[in-house]
Amino acid sequence: MKAAVLDQSEFSLRIEEVLIPELKAGQALIKLKAASLNHHELWPIRKKSRLANFKIIPGADGAGEVVDIAGDVEKSWLGKRVVINPSLNWGSSRNVFGNNFEILGYPKNGTFAEYIAIEERYIYEIPLHLSYEEAAAVPMAGLTAYRALFTKGLLNRKSKILITGIGGGVAMWALTFALKMDAKVYVTSGTDAKIQKAIMAGASGGVNYKNVNWRMELQEQAGLFDLILDGAAGNGFEKLLHLVKAGGKIINFGRTAGAIPAFDPQLLFRKQISIIGTSMGSDDEFRSMLYYILYHKIHPIIDSVFDLEQVQTAFERLKSSEQFGKIIMRI
Ligand SMILES: NC(=O)c1ccc[n+]([C@@H]2O[C@H](COP(=O)([O-])OP(=O)(O)OC[C@H]3O[C@@H](n4cnc5c(N)ncnc54)[C@H](OP(=O)(O)O)[C@@H]3O)[C@@H](O)[C@H]2O)c1
Repeated sequence: MKAAVLDQSEFSLRIEEVLIPELKAGQALIKLKAASLNHHELWPIRKKSRLANFKIIPGADGAGEVVDIAGDVEKSWLGKRVVINPSLNWGSSRNVFGNNFEILGYPKNGTFAEYIAIEERYIYEIPLHLSYEEAAAVPMAGLTAYRALFTKGLLNRKSKILITGIGGGVAMWALTFALKMDAKVYVTSGTDAKIQKAIMAGASGGVNYKNVNWRMELQEQAGLFDLILDGAAGNGFEKLLHLVKAGGKIINFGRTAGAIPAFDPQLLFRKQISIIGTSMGSDDEFRSMLYYILYHKIHPIIDSVFDLEQVQTAFERLKSSEQFGKIIMRI
C-alpha cells in the first residue's frame, strides 16, 4: 500500500510502498479514504523525539471503510463508514489520561496510508450527514475542543468566551461547538481576514494578536470573558489573565507560541482565576462529541483538500499558518 513515511533520522516525509498491516485479535482493517493534519504532527517532523530514530507512518485523524475484521470482532462492522478515535489507552480516570496513553500516529503507525489496522473500540460510525473528508476533520482537534469547552470549561449558554488563534484546527472546532450552545464567542488571529471569516461563521468579534494593543482593543470591544480557550501560550498568555473575569477560567491545550514567561501571580490569586490544562479526551467524550455533531448536524470548516501524494505541500500550508479550518488529505 501507499503511505506517507516519516524518517526521523533526516526529518523527511515521503510517499513509500509499504506492507498492508496484518490484522491482530480485536482489530478491524480500515481502507482509509481521508485523513487530516494536526499541529501535533509537526513536532516530530521538526525535532527528534525522545524515541530513537525510526520510520513511522504519522497521522492521528482518519476516516474510511471497514474492509476486514479479526475473528473476534463484531461482523456488522464490515462495509461500515467509520472514523477513528486517536486517543489510545485513555485509562480509567475522567480527570486525566493514564500512563499508557498515546496518540495514534506516534509511536504507532497512523492514518497517512491506504490502510490501517486498529482495535474495534476505537472505531465509530460516521454521522450520516458527514462525508469521509469531513469525518476525517473531526477526531483530534474536535475531541480536544470538546473536552476543553464542555468537560473542563463547563460552557453554558450564558458564557462569553474567547478563543485564541482562530485559524487553528482545535480553535475552529471550539468556535463551531460553542456557537451551537449560543455562547457569545470572540476570537484572536494573526490575520484580519480570518477574524472576518470567524465573524461570518457566527463569532461576535475579534482582534489581531499582532497589534501592540490587542488586549485593550479586545477589552473595549467585548469586556472580560468567562472562559478563554488557548492553544498558543507564549508571550501573549499573560494578557489572558487580564482578559478573563474574576473567578473565570483559562483552558490551555497547546504551546504553538512557546513557553509562558514569568507573570505576577497577584493577578491570578486576586481574581481567583483557574488555569486548567487539557489534552485530547476519553472514549466517552469521543462518543459524546460525535452525538453532539450528529444532533446539531455540524459540518466542520475545511480549509483545503490535498491528495496523499501532496503530503509535503499540505504540511507546508499547516506550517505557514495560512489555513482557516482543517487541512484534509484525500487517500
Ligand atoms: N493537548 C492536546 O490534546 C492537543 C490536541 C491538539 C492540538 N494541540 C496543540 O494545540 C495547538 C494548536 O493545534 P492545532 O492542530 O489546532 O494547530 P494549527 O491548526 O496548526 O493552528 C495553529 C494556530 O495557532 C495560532 N497561533 C500561532 N501563534 C499564535 C499566537 N502567538 N497567539 C495566538 N495564536 C497563535 C495561529 O492562528 P491564526 O492563524 O488565527 O493566527 C495558527 O493558525 C498546538 O500547539 C498543538 O500541538 C494539543
